Formats: sequence, structure tokens, C-alpha cells
Amino acid sequence: MGEIKTIGVLTSGGDAPGMNAAIRAVVRTGLYHNLNVVGIMRGYEGLIAGELIPMNRKSVSNIIGKGGTILKTTRSEAFRTPEGRKIAFENIQKFKIDGLVVVGGEGTFTGANVFYQEYGLPILGLPGTIDNDLIGTDYTIGYDTAINNVVSAVDKIRDTAESHARVFIIEVMGRDSGLIALRSGIGSGAEAILIPESETDIEELYRRLEESRTYKSSRIIMVAEGRHAGGFEVAEKIKERFPKFDVRLSILGHIQRGGRPTCMDRVLASRVGVAAVDALLAGHKGEMVGVVNNNIHFTPFQNAIKHISEINPNLLRIVDILSL
Ligand code: F6P
Repeated sequence: MGEIKTIGVLTSGGDAPGMNAAIRAVVRTGLYHNLNVVGIMRGYEGLIAGELIPMNRKSVSNIIGKGGTILKTTRSEAFRTPEGRKIAFENIQKFKIDGLVVVGGEGTFTGANVFYQEYGLPILGLPGTIDNDLIGTDYTIGYDTAINNVVSAVDKIRDTAESHARVFIIEVMGRDSGLIALRSGIGSGAEAILIPESETDIEELYRRLEESRTYKSSRIIMVAEGRHAGGFEVAEKIKERFPKFDVRLSILGHIQRGGRPTCMDRVLASRVGVAAVDALLAGHKGEMVGVVNNNIHFTPFQNAIKHISEINPNLLRIVDILSL
């Protein structure tokens, strides 16, 4: 690969608030460097189908505050196959793309890494997922908006919980990660937080529920979705153990992923978007661009998706002290 004259940008996997701010940053930085910028619709699916559109200043005006992604997104099955990736690379050549920026999470970077290994195309990734489950960035684009969405939903649920003296089990997203549950649980004053990274002592949970009954009317139990125990199972167990409790389950679902991105997400997306284009021109490839300790940080794709659950023990301690 020689000089970079044209770059492509795509979003892939679950949409995350702030993806549009990232697209805007990539496009505007590309134009700043006098590059041609091409938007690839529907992630890797659109790359295979040849759905590529030229991007200019106007294509990204007034999108910084919009949720979702103007380029649309998919989880592409075809891109998992060598045949699919071959067609994708033919389109890269056809549209003369010399460098690619992909915005997404684990699946997106897994695909980007294989594609980069196979064809040597310079690719950089921006961490776009509400789950905050990537290594090499303190926060992912979308996480801050998602936890704020959860907190504002729980504040509303708390009104009903207080008025009826109910125990509310609230299930939040995160796939296999409990980071949404942990932070939004602390932020909404949940009485207990159940996450896959830390084993739940169910007897201790019962004890806390029993104890807090004497001085609290509402109790919120935040549960991370996932293989370990979803909100439904937890609600059933509590009903069985405390038949007199008025228990309700609320699964927040995709409301967590929608809406206007917070300022934190817009700024993070802008920072990594600008850094990615600068870095492509400087010769970086095969890496995710994140922010660690307020500095831009590059992590090879295979390390970014390593799944080391990093739960801050101080946050767990805070839950223990403050939740009762
Ligand atoms: O990865 C983001 C995420 O919202 C996860 O938290 C959740 O498990 C999953 O995507 C849901 O995906 P779908 O878009 O298929 O509903």
C-alpha cells in the first residue's frame, strides 16, 4: 500500500450513541488533510454489496447530536467468510480506498483484524459500543449515554417503587459485561448490583433485602443481562424466598442504546476520530484508537478484544458501603 489519498469509514455491530460524531470527525479530518472520504453503508454488508457514497462537509453537518448511525449498521455473516471478504476487497480496490476506519465493538474488530491480516489494507478501529468491554480505552463511545439513559429510567421507576413499596429488579444490557450495571447501579443508588464478573452470594442478597425492609420502602436490584443470571431468574428467586414482597421486573432493553449522545461521548468520538485519520497518514494500521488516562492510545485489534474483565475493586467496595 502506498500513499493514502482516499479513506473509507463504516459503522458496524450494535449502534451506539456517538457513532455519528465519530463519522463526522473522520470525514472532516480527512477533508482537512485533502483526502477523498467515502462512506460505506451498512458496515461490512455494504462493503460487500458496493454501497459506497462520497462524503463531504455537508454529509456530516448537524449530525453530532444524533443517536444511531447515519451510515446504518449490520452484523455481517458474509464478512465472516473468505469469499465475502474477497468481494469486499475487490470493492476496496474498485473505489481506490487506501485506508479504512471502522467504528464498532468486538465483532467489528475481529472482522477488521482478519481483513487486515489477509489483505494488508491499513485499518484503524474506533471503540463504538455501549458495553465498554474493550481493552485499550477507558471508555467506549456510547457507554456514557447508555449509563445516563439507565439512570434516568431508574429515577422514574423509583417513583413507582417508592409509592408502592416495591422491590424492582432492573435488567440492563452489556452482553457478557457488567460495566453498564455497575456504574448505572451506583449512579441510581441501587440496593444491590449483580454482575457476571463478581459472584453473587444469594444468601447475602436475601440478608440485605431483609435488613433494608425495616427502613426502606423501595429497593432496586440492578442485574446485568447475560448467561449467568438474567433479571427474570433473580426476580423468581426473590419472589420464592419472600412471597410477601411486591416484586416487579423491568427489562430496559434498547432504550439504553438510543437518544442524543452525551457531551462525553461526543468529545470522545471526536478525539478518536481525528486521531485515527492522523494516525492512518502516519502509518498506523491494525489497531484500535482509544483514550487512556486522557491520552490517545493505540491497541492492536487482537489485544483490544481480549475479554479481560476489568472491574475496579473500588467500585465494588463503594456498592457494598453505600447500597444499604
Ligand atoms: O453490544 C451492544 C448490545 O446492545 C449488547 O449490550 C446487547 O447484548 C446486544 O448489543 C443486543 O444486540 P441486538 O442489537 O441484537 O439486540
